[in-house]
Amino acid sequence: MRHDAQLQLLDTLLALHRTGRDQPMLDRVVQLPVNIYTDPDILEKETSSVFRHYPMLVGHASRIQEPGSYLLSDWDSFPYVIVRTQEGHLRGFLNICRHRGARLVAGTEPCLKAFVCPFHGWSYDLDGKLKGVTKPYNFPDLDKHAFSLIELPVAERAGLIWIHPTPGATINLDHFLGFVGEDLDHFGLKELVPYRKSQIIKEANWKLLIKTYLEGYHVPYLHRDTLSHAFRKGVIAHHEYGPHIRLAAARTNFQEIVNVQADQRRILDFASVYYSIFPHAFFIMHPDYVSINLFYPEAPNRTIWTHEMLYRPEQFHGEAGMKALEKRFSYTNDVVFDGEDFAIAEGVQRGLVHGGNVMHTLGLEEGLLAIFQQNIENALMAHPSSPFIAKGPD
Ligand code: FES
Ligand SMILES: [Fe+2]
Repeated sequence: MRHDAQLQLLDTLLALHRTGRDQPMLDRVVQLPVNIYTDPDILEKETSSVFRHYPMLVGHASRIQEPGSYLLSDWDSFPYVIVRTQEGHLRGFLNICRHRGARLVAGTEPCLKAFVCPFHGWSYDLDGKLKGVTKPYNFPDLDKHAFSLIELPVAERAGLIWIHPTPGATINLDHFLGFVGEDLDHFGLKELVPYRKSQIIKEANWKLLIKTYLEGYHVPYLHRDTLSHAFRKGVIAHHEYGPHIRLAAARTNFQEIVNVQADQRRILDFASVYYSIFPHAFFIMHPDYVSINLFYPEAPNRTIWTHEMLYRPEQFHGEAGMKALEKRFSYTNDVVFDGEDFAIAEGVQRGLVHGGNVMHTLGLEEGLLAIFQQNIENALMAHPSSPFIAKGPD
């Protein structure tokens, strides 16, 4: 985030702090029907529309810097592989062989020189071209050009990688991210180092999980013994760009900001900044580490949650530094997210099958949940459903 934008945001938080109010997020109470969390038809529409038409955040680029290094999808319903070629370019492909559809890369390979299918041994170069067909007399007149891997657009910005789930689509991250992209550029994310990544199945709808991040109303209650200490007198401001939402939550030390000269004020010293990057990412900026949370629906009541923590190496040294990181990771991942937020979301999900609430009622401080939901509805209306790539030879 540019420094002038940080100062502006801090001024907003200061003004809110003086009045003891959070920034208004909604001017009326809203009700959301609970079937959006249980109805398989709704999930089918979301996956064939919302999850087809936007670039999706994949993770930090540091894991694929070397030629032949690669990243695999964490989502079985959308199997892709992103590879760094010998020339240093990023290429994205469906991780599916063009012969009879076997998964090409299992993830056990330390690095790739080519894609070699484990089923019948067809091989492709890292640019996706079919190079070798075993026992080629079985395929007289095969036009190899028509059997290249199915390419998916990929892009890199601010040390982060995006993939587009639709072949031939264009990724324009400036347009897609707006000020969120500028913020990420200025946070120096490229210099971060990956610490750990977890992957956990949660028995809750993907939207229920993301929505736990979108309001501070629950913090003094659900996080009474944990986060509420850091945000005791916190106030929250939010801004939107398209379907993305930025939240800034002032921390308990916020009053001390008046003692700091404007040119020395840094947003992360006094507030945590969060981004809901549409559709499936929740990005958390702390002063010394970053959490990237991604959510992939498997069923209405089942979601793959990945959490990657990155850190600033200059702030964690030696064994003590690694111990401190371990503590942060287990606190954030196990205690707060999994043990509090998502445990509640799973309880809510279980309760949905027993009736009781036909609607969920959102108060004024919970308005971002309604905005997030509205962004999904807008995306469903704007983009017709399209099945995952069903493509014959070119
Ligand atoms: S499925 Fe890949 S070579 Fe047959
Ligand atoms: Fe929470």
